[in-house]
Amino acid sequence: MKVYIADEAGFCFGVKRALNLIAQLNEKNQNVQIFGQLIHNRTVLKNLEKKGIGYIESIDELDPGKTLVIRTHGIPKHVENELRRKKIGILDATCPFVKKIHRIVGKIDSGKSRVVIVGDGNHPEVIAAKSYTPDADVVNSMAEAKTIKKSKTIGVVAQTTLNSDFLKKIVAVLLDKAETIEIHNTICHATRIRQEAIKKLAPEVDFVVVIGGKNSSNTRKLFEIASEKNPNTFLIEKSSDLHNLDFIERVNFFKSVGITAGASTPPDEIERVKDFFNNIENIAKEIKNGRTKRNFQH
Ligand code: F3S
Repeated sequence: MKVYIADEAGFCFGVKRALNLIAQLNEKNQNVQIFGQLIHNRTVLKNLEKKGIGYIESIDELDPGKTLVIRTHGIPKHVENELRRKKIGILDATCPFVKKIHRIVGKIDSGKSRVVIVGDGNHPEVIAAKSYTPDADVVNSMAEAKTIKKSKTIGVVAQTTLNSDFLKKIVAVLLDKAETIEIHNTICHATRIRQEAIKKLAPEVDFVVVIGGKNSSNTRKLFEIASEKNPNTFLIEKSSDLHNLDFIERVNFFKSVGITAGASTPPDEIERVKDFFNNIENIAKEIKNGRTKRNFQH
């Protein structure tokens, strides 16, 4: 089977930056805790936990003896203010592209515009962005966009991991809602190039595998885009998910696979998936012969 990796896949700038920050603190033997899940990838979180680096969900869980790192998706403004009020030192690993949205949203608000955040209202990034302008409307579907009240001016921002085509469709609906629309395309560069790469690769291969956390927004978007271009698209969290005879029998007659991965998927996970497909014939034989002890890491 021919194995192709999308031109852009896996760890993005913001994730690398956050992990480097944690690694530096760890080298200095500082005890670290993270506010929220640093990134949406269970393997990475488990590895951090093994090093004693866990995460908290609220200020009540704070351990004052540890250095607090803010996750890549950011935290709500009032939580940050509360941490500062309590004089708790923080190291901010919020991705600069996420921070940019906070700044834009604050500015639009001060201009007395209606603010529309396009994205998933339950995602920590959007929850944090909305905290900078609580009156903002959050829309995540065409139906929701249609419910936005008419206004003289609307300012639009997008969750960094949004699908560009989806944003265009929402903006088209909003065009009827205001005389002036100020659109800030805040989909980050890493998201855009990963989406473009899989758009190009997916129709050229027999099937596609997308690797990433099930709760990772950018991974889900890659899966949606790949599925539109190639109906034989599978979403997995890790290479060991492939170790399944039903799946292998389903794809084994295919001649080519395209692989992509969300921005929080580590490079070694991508390599393991690549190795799997390079050896799929042997793995299938081993499983059929009942020798399932091949060393797959979780
Ligand atoms: Fe930042 Fe975009 Fe990655 S917002 S964390 S560079 S997916």
